[in-house]
Amino acid sequence: MIAAGGFVRETAAAAVAGGRADAVAFGRLFIANPDLPERLRRGAPLNDYDRSTFYGGGERGYTDYPALGAAA
Ligand SMILES: Cc1cc2nc3c(=O)[nH]c(=O)nc-3n(C[C@H](O)[C@H](O)[C@H](O)COP(=O)(O)O)c2cc1C
Repeated sequence: MIAAGGFVRETAAAAVAGGRADAVAFGRLFIANPDLPERLRRGAPLNDYDRSTFYGGGERGYTDYPALGAAA
């Protein structure tokens, strides 16, 4: 069972640890964080997503969010 929808690091971990899900999927946070698994492992800060670039258009908002260490 894969749960999705509004999860953050802590609530996802609690859902799996509590047996309410086998895994948790991320949508918006993954779009904005190309290295989301590594960020979650480290407890690193997350890029904010830009809702105005969801659902269409070009590559902006899909391939240009910075990975950890790339922002500088
Ligand atoms: C830009 C965008 C595109 C999405 N496209 C799909 C899709 O093609 N198929 C799908 O099942 N869910 C799609 N979703 C929904 C996500 O998979 C996810 O269920 C939803 O964003 C809720 O999870 P979140 O709170 O982690 O964002 C999309 C979400 C976003 C923001």
